[in-house]
Amino acid sequence: MKLGAAGERELGQLYDDLARYQFWRRRLSRTAAGVGLEMHKRLNPPNGAGPAAGTGGLHDWLWDRLLPEPSVPSLSVLDVGCGFGASLFSLGARVPTAELDGISLSTYQIQVAKREAARLGLDRRSRFQVSSFDSPLADRTFDLLLSIETLFHSPDLAVTLPHLTGALADRGQIAIVEDMAIDSSVAGTDDARELLRLWATKRIYSRTDYCKALEAAGLSITEEIDLTTQVPHRSEEQLRISSRRLGRLRAWAPTADLRRMLDAFLGGVCLERLYGAGQMNYRCLIASATDG
Ligand SMILES: C[S@@+](CC[C@H](N)C(=O)[O-])C[C@H]1O[C@@H](n2cnc3c(N)ncnc32)[C@H](O)[C@@H]1O
Repeated sequence: MKLGAAGERELGQLYDDLARYQFWRRRLSRTAAGVGLEMHKRLNPPNGAGPAAGTGGLHDWLWDRLLPEPSVPSLSVLDVGCGFGASLFSLGARVPTAELDGISLSTYQIQVAKREAARLGLDRRSRFQVSSFDSPLADRTFDLLLSIETLFHSPDLAVTLPHLTGALADRGQIAIVEDMAIDSSVAGTDDARELLRLWATKRIYSRTDYCKALEAAGLSITEEIDLTTQVPHRSEEQLRISSRRLGRLRAWAPTADLRRMLDAFLGGVCLERLYGAGQMNYRCLIASATDG
Protein backbone atom coordinates (compact mmCIF):
# COMPACT_ATOMS: atom_id res chain seq x y z
CA MET A 1 0.00 0.00 0.00
CA LYS A 2 1.31 3.48 -0.92
CA LEU A 3 0.30 6.87 0.40
CA GLY A 4 0.74 8.32 -3.09
CA ALA A 5 1.64 11.89 -4.03
CA ALA A 6 -1.76 13.30 -2.98
CA GLY A 7 -1.61 11.55 0.42
CA GLU A 8 1.92 12.81 1.04
CA ARG A 9 0.89 16.33 0.06
CA GLU A 10 -2.01 16.22 2.51
CA LEU A 11 0.24 14.99 5.33
CA GLY A 12 2.87 17.58 4.44
CA GLN A 13 0.26 20.35 4.66
CA LEU A 14 -0.93 19.05 8.00
CA TYR A 15 2.63 19.17 9.35
CA ASP A 16 3.16 22.61 7.79
CA ASP A 17 0.15 23.89 9.75
CA LEU A 18 1.21 22.23 12.99
CA ALA A 19 4.75 23.49 12.58
CA ARG A 20 3.57 27.08 11.97
CA TYR A 21 1.40 26.86 15.06
CA GLN A 22 4.32 25.60 17.18
CA PHE A 23 6.71 28.16 15.74
CA TRP A 24 4.43 31.11 16.46
CA ARG A 25 3.56 29.81 19.91
CA ARG A 26 7.29 29.76 20.71
CA ARG A 27 7.68 33.26 19.30
CA LEU A 28 4.75 34.67 21.27
CA SER A 29 5.95 33.08 24.50
CA ARG A 30 9.44 34.49 23.77
CA THR A 31 11.08 31.06 23.84
CA ALA A 32 14.84 31.36 23.40
CA ALA A 33 16.26 30.59 19.95
CA GLY A 34 16.77 26.86 19.41
CA VAL A 35 14.73 25.81 22.46
CA GLY A 36 11.54 23.74 22.22
CA LEU A 37 11.92 22.77 18.57
CA GLU A 38 11.00 19.14 19.26
CA MET A 39 7.74 18.00 17.70
CA HIS A 40 7.31 14.93 19.87
CA LYS A 41 5.60 14.29 23.20
CA ARG A 42 6.68 16.05 26.35
CA LEU A 43 7.14 13.12 28.70
CA ASN A 44 6.35 12.96 32.42
CA PRO A 45 9.34 12.50 34.75
CA PRO A 46 10.58 8.90 34.85
CA ASN A 47 10.04 6.57 37.73
CA GLY A 48 13.55 5.14 37.41
CA ALA A 49 15.85 5.28 34.43
CA GLY A 50 13.74 6.77 31.59
CA PRO A 51 14.24 10.07 29.74
CA ALA A 52 14.09 13.24 31.83
CA ALA A 53 10.91 15.29 31.49
CA GLY A 54 10.89 18.42 29.37
CA THR A 55 12.67 19.63 26.29
CA GLY A 56 15.72 17.61 25.21
CA GLY A 57 15.16 14.77 27.71
CA LEU A 58 14.37 12.12 25.12
CA HIS A 59 17.38 13.09 23.00
CA ASP A 60 19.90 12.96 25.83
CA TRP A 61 18.56 9.59 26.93
CA LEU A 62 18.75 8.23 23.37
CA TRP A 63 22.31 9.43 22.78
CA ASP A 64 23.41 7.90 26.10
CA ARG A 65 22.09 4.54 24.84
CA LEU A 66 23.24 4.78 21.24
CA LEU A 67 26.58 6.52 21.70
CA PRO A 68 27.94 5.56 25.10
CA GLU A 69 31.47 6.52 24.00
CA PRO A 70 31.84 10.31 24.18
CA SER A 71 34.17 10.45 21.17
CA VAL A 72 32.97 8.87 17.94
CA PRO A 73 35.40 9.30 15.02
CA SER A 74 32.66 9.72 12.42
CA LEU A 75 28.94 9.25 12.31
CA SER A 76 26.49 9.65 9.48
CA VAL A 77 22.88 10.05 10.59
CA LEU A 78 19.55 10.23 8.78
CA ASP A 79 16.49 11.45 10.67
CA VAL A 80 13.59 10.15 8.58
CA GLY A 81 10.94 12.58 9.85
CA CYS A 82 13.10 15.34 11.17
CA GLY A 83 10.55 18.05 12.04
CA PHE A 84 12.50 21.25 12.75
CA GLY A 85 15.72 19.22 13.06
CA ALA A 86 15.82 19.26 16.87
CA SER A 87 17.15 15.68 17.16
CA LEU A 88 19.92 16.29 14.63
CA PHE A 89 20.98 19.57 16.26
CA SER A 90 21.18 17.87 19.63
CA LEU A 91 23.29 15.07 18.14
CA GLY A 92 25.43 17.55 16.20
CA ALA A 93 26.31 19.33 19.46
CA ARG A 94 27.22 16.01 21.09
CA VAL A 95 29.28 14.58 18.20
CA PRO A 96 31.22 17.40 16.53
CA THR A 97 32.07 15.28 13.47
CA ALA A 98 28.57 13.90 12.81
CA GLU A 99 27.13 14.31 9.31
CA LEU A 100 23.45 15.15 9.64
CA ASP A 101 20.68 14.43 7.13
CA GLY A 102 17.00 15.10 7.70
CA ILE A 103 13.89 14.58 5.59
CA SER A 104 10.32 15.65 6.21
CA LEU A 105 7.13 16.08 4.19
CA SER A 106 6.74 19.62 5.52
CA THR A 107 8.29 22.41 3.46
CA TYR A 108 7.95 24.83 6.35
CA GLN A 109 9.78 22.51 8.79
CA ILE A 110 12.63 22.12 6.31
CA GLN A 111 12.92 25.90 5.83
CA VAL A 112 13.13 26.44 9.58
CA ALA A 113 15.58 23.53 10.00
CA LYS A 114 17.92 25.00 7.36
CA ARG A 115 17.77 28.43 9.01
CA GLU A 116 18.45 26.92 12.42
CA ALA A 117 21.38 24.87 11.05
CA ALA A 118 22.93 28.07 9.70
CA ARG A 119 22.38 29.86 13.03
CA LEU A 120 24.12 27.00 14.87
CA GLY A 121 26.98 26.86 12.37
CA LEU A 122 25.96 23.33 11.37
CA ASP A 123 25.05 24.07 7.76
CA ARG A 124 28.30 22.64 6.36
CA ARG A 125 27.61 19.21 7.82
CA SER A 126 23.82 19.09 7.56
CA ARG A 127 21.38 18.58 4.70
CA PHE A 128 17.62 19.01 5.02
CA GLN A 129 15.22 17.99 2.26
CA VAL A 130 11.50 17.79 1.62
CA SER A 131 11.17 14.11 0.81
CA SER A 132 9.27 11.00 1.83
CA PHE A 133 10.79 8.09 3.68
CA ASP A 134 9.30 5.92 0.92
CA SER A 135 11.20 7.81 -1.83
CA PRO A 136 14.73 6.94 -2.97
CA LEU A 137 17.27 7.91 -0.30
CA ALA A 138 20.65 9.60 -0.56
CA ASP A 139 23.05 7.41 -2.45
CA ARG A 140 25.25 6.50 0.53
CA THR A 141 24.97 4.60 3.76
CA PHE A 142 24.20 5.77 7.28
CA ASP A 143 25.51 4.62 10.64
CA LEU A 144 22.30 5.65 12.34
CA LEU A 145 18.70 6.02 11.22
CA LEU A 146 16.42 7.81 13.59
CA SER A 147 12.63 7.91 13.59
CA ILE A 148 10.76 9.66 16.39
CA GLU A 149 6.96 9.65 16.05
CA THR A 150 7.21 9.38 12.26
CA LEU A 151 6.80 5.77 11.13
CA PHE A 152 3.28 5.98 12.56
CA HIS A 153 2.51 7.51 9.16
CA SER A 154 3.92 4.68 7.07
CA PRO A 155 1.28 3.29 4.73
CA ASP A 156 2.99 -0.11 4.90
CA LEU A 157 5.71 -0.81 7.45
CA ALA A 158 6.66 -4.03 5.71
CA VAL A 159 7.69 -1.89 2.72
CA THR A 160 8.97 1.28 4.44
CA LEU A 161 11.28 -0.38 6.98
CA PRO A 162 13.27 -2.60 4.58
CA HIS A 163 13.53 0.38 2.19
CA LEU A 164 14.98 2.56 4.95
CA THR A 165 17.25 -0.03 6.50
CA GLY A 166 18.67 -0.76 3.04
CA ALA A 167 20.51 2.56 3.56
CA LEU A 168 22.25 1.33 6.73
CA ALA A 169 25.99 0.74 6.78
CA ASP A 170 27.31 -2.58 8.12
CA ARG A 171 26.63 -2.63 11.85
CA GLY A 172 24.49 0.48 11.46
CA GLN A 173 21.60 1.00 13.84
CA ILE A 174 18.02 2.21 13.63
CA ALA A 175 16.30 3.79 16.63
CA ILE A 176 12.52 4.05 16.53
CA VAL A 177 10.46 5.84 19.18
CA GLU A 178 6.79 5.44 18.44
CA ASP A 179 3.16 5.13 19.50
CA MET A 180 2.38 1.43 19.02
CA ALA A 181 -0.95 -0.34 19.42
CA ILE A 182 -0.82 -3.06 22.05
CA ASP A 183 -2.22 -5.54 19.50
CA SER A 184 -4.09 -5.76 16.21
CA SER A 185 -7.54 -5.45 17.84
CA VAL A 186 -6.91 -1.72 18.50
CA ALA A 187 -7.27 -0.98 14.76
CA GLY A 188 -10.97 -1.84 14.98
CA THR A 189 -11.78 0.73 17.70
CA ASP A 190 -13.65 3.97 16.92
CA ASP A 191 -10.82 6.07 18.37
CA ALA A 192 -8.19 4.40 16.18
CA ARG A 193 -10.32 4.83 13.05
CA GLU A 194 -10.96 8.48 13.86
CA LEU A 195 -7.30 9.11 14.69
CA LEU A 196 -6.20 7.70 11.33
CA ARG A 197 -8.78 9.76 9.45
CA LEU A 198 -7.84 12.99 11.24
CA TRP A 199 -4.11 12.42 10.80
CA ALA A 200 -4.41 11.43 7.11
CA THR A 201 -2.81 8.09 7.93
CA LYS A 202 -3.59 4.61 6.63
CA ARG A 203 -2.91 2.06 9.35
CA ILE A 204 -2.12 1.68 13.00
CA TYR A 205 0.75 -0.69 13.84
CA SER A 206 1.44 -2.79 16.89
CA ARG A 207 4.76 -3.61 18.50
CA THR A 208 4.57 -7.00 16.79
CA ASP A 209 4.25 -5.30 13.38
CA TYR A 210 7.43 -3.28 14.06
CA CYS A 211 9.34 -6.32 15.30
CA LYS A 212 8.28 -8.42 12.30
CA ALA A 213 9.17 -5.68 9.79
CA LEU A 214 12.61 -5.19 11.39
CA GLU A 215 13.31 -8.90 11.41
CA ALA A 216 12.11 -9.25 7.80
CA ALA A 217 14.56 -6.46 6.91
CA GLY A 218 17.35 -8.62 8.36
CA LEU A 219 17.90 -6.55 11.52
CA SER A 220 18.29 -7.78 15.07
CA ILE A 221 16.52 -5.93 17.85
CA THR A 222 19.15 -5.10 20.43
CA GLU A 223 17.06 -3.07 22.87
CA GLU A 224 13.42 -2.46 23.57
CA ILE A 225 12.26 0.02 26.18
CA ASP A 226 8.66 0.68 27.11
CA LEU A 227 8.17 4.38 27.96
CA THR A 228 4.37 4.23 28.24
CA THR A 229 4.25 5.17 31.92
CA GLN A 230 5.86 8.52 31.04
CA VAL A 231 3.20 9.48 28.50
CA PRO A 232 0.89 12.17 29.89
CA HIS A 233 -2.82 11.81 29.22
CA ARG A 234 -5.85 13.63 30.54
CA SER A 235 -8.92 12.14 32.22
CA GLU A 236 -11.89 10.95 30.17
CA GLU A 237 -13.88 14.00 31.32
CA GLN A 238 -11.12 16.48 30.37
CA LEU A 239 -10.83 14.82 26.98
CA ARG A 240 -14.59 15.05 26.43
CA ILE A 241 -14.51 18.81 27.19
CA SER A 242 -11.48 19.36 24.97
CA SER A 243 -12.98 17.45 22.06
CA ARG A 244 -16.28 19.39 22.38
CA ARG A 245 -14.41 22.73 22.32
CA LEU A 246 -12.22 21.71 19.40
CA GLY A 247 -15.28 20.44 17.52
CA ARG A 248 -17.03 23.82 18.00
CA LEU A 249 -13.97 25.69 16.78
CA ARG A 250 -13.71 23.30 13.84
CA ALA A 251 -17.30 24.06 12.82
CA TRP A 252 -16.55 27.81 12.90
CA ALA A 253 -13.05 27.72 11.36
CA PRO A 254 -13.06 29.82 8.18
CA THR A 255 -9.97 28.38 6.44
CA ALA A 256 -8.81 24.91 5.37
CA ASP A 257 -5.48 25.44 7.19
CA LEU A 258 -7.23 26.11 10.48
CA ARG A 259 -9.59 23.16 10.01
CA ARG A 260 -6.62 20.86 9.30
CA MET A 261 -4.83 22.04 12.41
CA LEU A 262 -7.91 21.51 14.58
CA ASP A 263 -8.31 18.04 13.04
CA ALA A 264 -4.75 17.29 14.09
CA PHE A 265 -5.57 18.31 17.68
CA LEU A 266 -8.78 16.25 17.60
CA GLY A 267 -6.67 13.30 16.43
CA GLY A 268 -4.41 13.95 19.43
CA VAL A 269 -7.44 13.63 21.70
CA CYS A 270 -8.24 10.21 20.16
CA LEU A 271 -4.65 9.12 20.76
CA GLU A 272 -4.79 10.27 24.39
CA ARG A 273 -8.04 8.36 24.83
CA LEU A 274 -6.38 5.22 23.46
CA TYR A 275 -3.52 5.69 25.95
CA GLY A 276 -6.05 6.20 28.75
CA ALA A 277 -7.74 2.93 27.78
CA GLY A 278 -4.38 1.12 27.91
CA GLN A 279 -4.49 0.41 24.17
CA MET A 280 -1.31 2.18 23.13
CA ASN A 281 2.31 1.86 24.16
CA TYR A 282 5.13 4.37 23.66
CA ARG A 283 8.16 2.28 22.85
CA CYS A 284 11.74 2.67 21.81
CA LEU A 285 13.13 -0.09 19.60
CA ILE A 286 16.80 -0.19 18.67
CA ALA A 287 17.87 -2.64 15.98
CA SER A 288 21.11 -3.19 14.18
CA ALA A 289 22.24 -4.45 10.84
CA THR A 290 24.67 -7.33 11.01
CA ASP A 291 27.53 -7.31 8.54
CA GLY A 292 27.66 -9.96 5.85
C1 LIG B 1 5.42 14.19 15.06
S1 LIG B 1 6.55 14.87 13.91
C2 LIG B 1 8.07 14.38 14.70
C3 LIG B 1 9.22 15.24 14.24
C4 LIG B 1 10.59 14.89 14.85
N1 LIG B 1 10.91 13.50 14.69
C5 LIG B 1 10.64 15.28 16.29
O1 LIG B 1 10.67 14.38 17.13
O2 LIG B 1 10.68 16.48 16.58
C6 LIG B 1 6.41 13.75 12.54
C7 LIG B 1 7.36 14.04 11.39
O3 LIG B 1 7.22 12.98 10.43
C8 LIG B 1 7.28 13.56 9.15
N2 LIG B 1 6.68 12.59 8.20
C9 LIG B 1 5.46 12.04 8.19
N3 LIG B 1 5.33 11.22 7.12
C10 LIG B 1 6.51 11.26 6.45
C11 LIG B 1 7.00 10.66 5.26
N4 LIG B 1 6.24 9.84 4.51
N5 LIG B 1 8.26 10.92 4.89
C12 LIG B 1 9.06 11.76 5.61
N6 LIG B 1 8.63 12.37 6.74
C13 LIG B 1 7.38 12.13 7.15
C14 LIG B 1 6.52 14.86 9.29
O4 LIG B 1 6.77 15.72 8.20
C15 LIG B 1 7.09 15.34 10.63
O5 LIG B 1 8.32 15.98 10.41
